[in-house]
Amino acid sequence: MSLKEMCKVLHFGDLGDERGKLVVIEGGQAIPFDIQRVFYIYESDATVVRGQHANRESEFVLINVAGKSKVRITDGREEIIVELDRPMMGVYIPKMIWKDMYDFSSDSVLLVLASTHYDGSEYIRDYDEYLKEIGVK
Ligand code: TYD
Repeated sequence: MSLKEMCKVLHFGDLGDERGKLVVIEGGQAIPFDIQRVFYIYESDATVVRGQHANRESEFVLINVAGKSKVRITDGREEIIVELDRPMMGVYIPKMIWKDMYDFSSDSVLLVLASTHYDGSEYIRDYDEYLKEIGVK
């Protein structure tokens, strides 16, 4: 399966009406895991690069609920860049995929849904180590 097929761009339904938009995301349905953790990143700007890690155990869905950012995703062989610029879209990131988030607009609020509780030891923060673990190096 290609990286683009693995890291699916997700489109969430809009239940909005004349009162405004309403987006609902059900764990295990709209996204392919049960949500154990939610965090969000804001007040990053265009000079910042975040992420820069892969996770041995966690899967994520990234959604810019306001503003925009980009995420560069690689499995050490292929690379894709996804622009997150709509509250109704997200991108799914499986385990053992390297990601960098960058180009945050000043109003960016990047919501992250995760399949696990936080455990710092499942993060791989060294790219060479990541390449070794996935057998590319
Ligand atoms: P970090 O992984 O660098 O954030 P990002 O992936 O968004 O660039 O996390 C920054 C700090 O916050 C780091 O000390 C770990 C801590 N942290 C938690 O305690 N729990 C969490 O769920 C996350 C994502 C981070």
